[in-house]
Amino acid sequence: HIKDVIARRVWDSRGHPTVEVDVILENGVVGRAIAPAGASRGTREAIDLRDGGAALQGKNVVQALKNVNGPIAAALRGRNVQDQTGADSAILALDPSPLKKALGGNATVATSLAVLHAAAADAGCALWQHVAEQNGFTPSLPLPEIQIFGGGAHAGRRVDIQDFMIMVPGANSFDEVMEITNEVYFAAGDIMQSKGKLAGVADEGGWWPMFDSNEEALETLIGAIEKAGEKPGDRVVISLDIAASEFCNDGRYRLALEDRDMDSSAMIDMLGGWLDAYPIASIEDPLAETDKEGTCEFTRRFGDRVQIIGDDYLVTNATLVDQAQKDGACNAVLIKVNQAGTVSESIEAFRKAQSAGWGAIVSARSGETEDVSISHLATGLGGGQLKVGSFTRSERMVKWNECLRIQDVLGAAAFVGGAPLANTWWG
Ligand code: PGA
Ligand code: ZN
Repeated sequence: HIKDVIARRVWDSRGHPTVEVDVILENGVVGRAIAPAGASRGTREAIDLRDGGAALQGKNVVQALKNVNGPIAAALRGRNVQDQTGADSAILALDPSPLKKALGGNATVATSLAVLHAAAADAGCALWQHVAEQNGFTPSLPLPEIQIFGGGAHAGRRVDIQDFMIMVPGANSFDEVMEITNEVYFAAGDIMQSKGKLAGVADEGGWWPMFDSNEEALETLIGAIEKAGEKPGDRVVISLDIAASEFCNDGRYRLALEDRDMDSSAMIDMLGGWLDAYPIASIEDPLAETDKEGTCEFTRRFGDRVQIIGDDYLVTNATLVDQAQKDGACNAVLIKVNQAGTVSESIEAFRKAQSAGWGAIVSARSGETEDVSISHLATGLGGGQLKVGSFTRSERMVKWNECLRIQDVLGAAAFVGGAPLANTWWG
């Protein structure tokens, strides 16, 4: 049973304050988790509660810590730690507002994940194993999406598109994905260097995007895959997060880099042109979260050849996933536990996706820490895909490295490979 819940302030990969929670059991077992933080956030996701004011760029989390140490701790003391749904419901009962405005999604997510960690430790098993057993899933090692160039809100809007990533569905093991990604990542760095365009890395560790157009980023990515000795579209494919809400205003999409201004249908045509020209197997938030018609039209035109992921569009919300399935918008959902605010709500969104045959991608945020919960969640859900950011910086590598440790237990054969992309041209 839960004896106490204690929150402390720690610091994330961008140097901002964040919430860490310890859930302490009567037998001395401790579960710990840290809240991540997004920069390109959906308007319907759980609120990241910050104190505001002048200090610490307004990002202090004193109120969120108080919420954990006060009402949340009081609601959880004495509860059975194995009852995740019960613990999450007790938290939700304190703040029924859909965006968790009173408690803060940062307070609730760190607590909810810490309960999960404590339950796994109490049961004497790894977190991935606990998630699988508690929910009846078959664990598997996910196919990673790994960023090569950062952009958008993660790179001072140097380019409009947010994530230029690769996936290696043709790899034989998770370990081999890491090897091939290493070669592509450093090949991209070499190309930037030789063009005199090497300028460090963006928030998630991808190369800083010194490009004159969004297409130049795509061309350079193709060049990097080739330089790494791979044929683009063969074992290695491209994945994009357009994060289109970030540059959509009043229904117009404005690519600042190219001084281009488009309506929704011109935006769809432009992206369709990219799908024809490049081996893109997955695309996230191709249209803005407010552009339902555009998202439906994009899905109607391209849903049979590319994975279309809703991130800002679905915010890990089972009701929104359900609605999108009825509307014919997207065919996959990004699962970010802090968008929903609790583990139980995230698993509900995951189940909704799974029952419709949708893809599901467990994802980090651009502000991350040493917390490795998502590596275990992706494995334990058997969800098939994991998005963490790039191939440098330890708040990213710690997640990939944790998957390698899990691989040692589960066996290399537990890697899903390209299976999650079976409903795209790749599969
Ligand atoms: P965020 O971006 O964590 O900054 O919101 C990640 C994403 O859009 O997938
Ligand atoms: Zn996104």
